[in-house]
Amino acid sequence: MRRNIIAANWKMYFTINEAEAVANRMAEVVNNKTKVIVCPPFVFLDRLSKVFLKTSIKLGAQNMYFEEKGAFTGEISPTMIESVGCEYVIIGHSERRHIFGERDIDIRKKVVSAIEHNLKPILCVGETLTQRKDGKAKDVVERQIITALDGVDLNSVVVAYEPVWAIGTGVPADLDTVNEMHSFIRGLLEDVPILYGGSVKDKNAYELAQINDVDGFLVGSASLDADTFKKIIDEFERAKGVN
Ligand code: 13P
Repeated sequence: MRRNIIAANWKMYFTINEAEAVANRMAEVVNNKTKVIVCPPFVFLDRLSKVFLKTSIKLGAQNMYFEEKGAFTGEISPTMIESVGCEYVIIGHSERRHIFGERDIDIRKKVVSAIEHNLKPILCVGETLTQRKDGKAKDVVERQIITALDGVDLNSVVVAYEPVWAIGTGVPADLDTVNEMHSFIRGLLEDVPILYGGSVKDKNAYELAQINDVDGFLVGSASLDADTFKKIIDEFERAKGVN
């Protein structure tokens, strides 16, 4: 179902005390109509689920393994993250693909497993700068989507378009590119929420949110500060006319 969602990806930042302080502040200030999801590192999930319990903020993990249990040293299963209060899980983030070598086929297994375990996958897709320069951006994104989602029940799926070249740079993709890529993805996935990710800040959230097929954001560094994150949600709602 198409709906507005703003998710925070905290990546590998914070100690438990820092994470709890930011979560407490978010619990205090976030009171929006838009669905808000926070995805902290695994080791903070249990503690933060208690912080968010009486709020509308939902909890997500940043990754998972597709097996339910077994001899997989260092891995975390869907059952584990579900048991500490996660409703969502980010799958196939570009940092997983490029630093840790996750392939489309691995990502599909994770998406399927997440859904089997009643978790809602936030599937990340996006091309590198080289792929874009070679004119392959749409082919890459289409392949990532089709491999991960073909035959999958799309009801609980969220997609995040995160062009690799815009992540962590401070400069998001230009509005025409975001518009073009989101419309393209909408052609493949009519009813799925499509989030934009890559240098979303409080200063650019309004103009990005004015794009019709942008249903929300996946925010990295600007989500590490609760008040900045809150501003992003407010700017998004102002652009979408939510009040
Ligand atoms: P930044 O917002 O820091 O560019 O990160 C985006 C991202 O990778 C979110 O998943």
